[in-house]
Amino acid sequence: MLNYPARIKLGHLPTPLEEMPRLSEALGGPRLFVKRDDETGLATGGNKTRKLEFLLADALEEGADTVITAGAAQSNHCRQTAAAAVKCGLKCILTLTGSDPGVWNGNLLLDDLLGAEVRFVGDVTWTGLLDVMAGVADEVRAAGGRPYVIPVGGSTPVGATGYVAAIEELMEQLKEKNLNIDHIVFASSSGGTQSGLAVGARAFGFGGQVLGISVASKVDDLMGVLEQLSNDTARHLGLDLHFSRGDFQVNDDYLGAGYGKPAEPEREAIRLLAQTEGILVDPVYTGRALAGLIDLIRKGAFDKDETVLFWHTGGTAALFAYVEELRGF
Ligand SMILES: Cc1ncc(COP(=O)(O)O)c(C=O)c1O
Repeated sequence: MLNYPARIKLGHLPTPLEEMPRLSEALGGPRLFVKRDDETGLATGGNKTRKLEFLLADALEEGADTVITAGAAQSNHCRQTAAAAVKCGLKCILTLTGSDPGVWNGNLLLDDLLGAEVRFVGDVTWTGLLDVMAGVADEVRAAGGRPYVIPVGGSTPVGATGYVAAIEELMEQLKEKNLNIDHIVFASSSGGTQSGLAVGARAFGFGGQVLGISVASKVDDLMGVLEQLSNDTARHLGLDLHFSRGDFQVNDDYLGAGYGKPAEPEREAIRLLAQTEGILVDPVYTGRALAGLIDLIRKGAFDKDETVLFWHTGGTAALFAYVEELRGF
């Protein structure tokens, strides 16, 4: 049992662990399961809910009245943060890259419905967003408010703790079902999910592989983030665990035309899962990760007698912002 820091209940946990026999049959592949973190709650769910249980507990402990975070216009993280802020009675300011697209759909529509203050900040890098948010925090303070800044993706040791706890949840489900998982495969971007899973796997003795399909960064860049964040997360939890680059598995073969630019592999993956299992994945993260998993299965990367878990990290609200790219006619 781990000694977790403060946590508030925001998610519908534990999320279901389901078998995907029809997808497995369609691919002639290994036994496949899915962990339904697309059903964590918070205005259409996703992986950020687990991180926000710890991040917002931290914000409340600090006495914050305003949460500030950042991302792309279709950020699932921003939408879940907006919903979490509502549940906690906090104000939410979202600083989004780019300019106002005019039509507010997908996650952006939900941000608005959830009452978040949305500010488009132009072409800013993800690190540049930290400065932008610091400026907004100063503004909030000057007006007598108490800001709490959450970096892109909620990928801090506090946030990543959500995925350490997720491994504990999974281990209990595996025990109940008397099931063994050889590989966990999922979408990896700002590194919080993968770092949390890596720390959790060590802390709770998960013996399988943990493979992040990168959706935005080259292996080397993501590895650097994972090494730092995993070590920081372990330290945050008082665990005597140490990580180096060799401890992580990352695949960047599926970056395609770049972040947020789905093409045929994502289209095929989205339709295949929808039409075999009735489950939706998104065009930016989970569709890309699933396309990677499908390709790896077709290339024979897994033995037939192995069991693979696709950890569905959510994002389905973004489907409605990619109508042109996804429609089949
Ligand atoms: C649907 C979805 N999947 C996966 C990820 C990646 O998670 P992380 O940023 O923790 O690597 C995100 C992050 O924005 C996401 O929205």
